[in-house]
Amino acid sequence: MSHRMSPDELDWDALRAAAVEVSRRAYAPYSHFPVGAAGVADDGRLLVGCNVENAAYGVVLCAECGLVSSLHASGGGRLTHFVCVNGLREVIMPCGRCRQLLYEHGGRELAVMTPHGVRTMAEVLPDAFGPDDLGAAR
Ligand code: THU
Repeated sequence: MSHRMSPDELDWDALRAAAVEVSRRAYAPYSHFPVGAAGVADDGRLLVGCNVENAAYGVVLCAECGLVSSLHASGGGRLTHFVCVNGLREVIMPCGRCRQLLYEHGGRELAVMTPHGVRTMAEVLPDAFGPDDLGAAR
């Protein structure tokens, strides 16, 4: 994806619109709960992902999985901003597992749009376990 966004003056409405757009590509025949995720990397790259379900239900890939894969596939870097939406275009909280996933690639300062406003990752995943914890015990 070649789109770029300015991390300094982020247009949250545009980021949310990107999440809504990609939610339409979700493959969610089992839950009927499409999710679209959109994020910005520290070089301004726009990244998106949608959920992809499986007949073996537990194999589901959340929208965040696709977004994080896209982050690395398109050059790496760190996430600075993130939002995900449901099929009604409503902002939703990322699931617990995906908060951990996002924490790994954006850290405590990652700005997350939530139904309650913009929060930091430190607020939505307090006292997180992360890469530093592994290092401390090596
Ligand atoms: N889902 C996501 O893609 N991301 C989240 O953060 C919440 C849940 C998906 C997984 C599944 O396909 C559907 O939403 C219902 O749980």
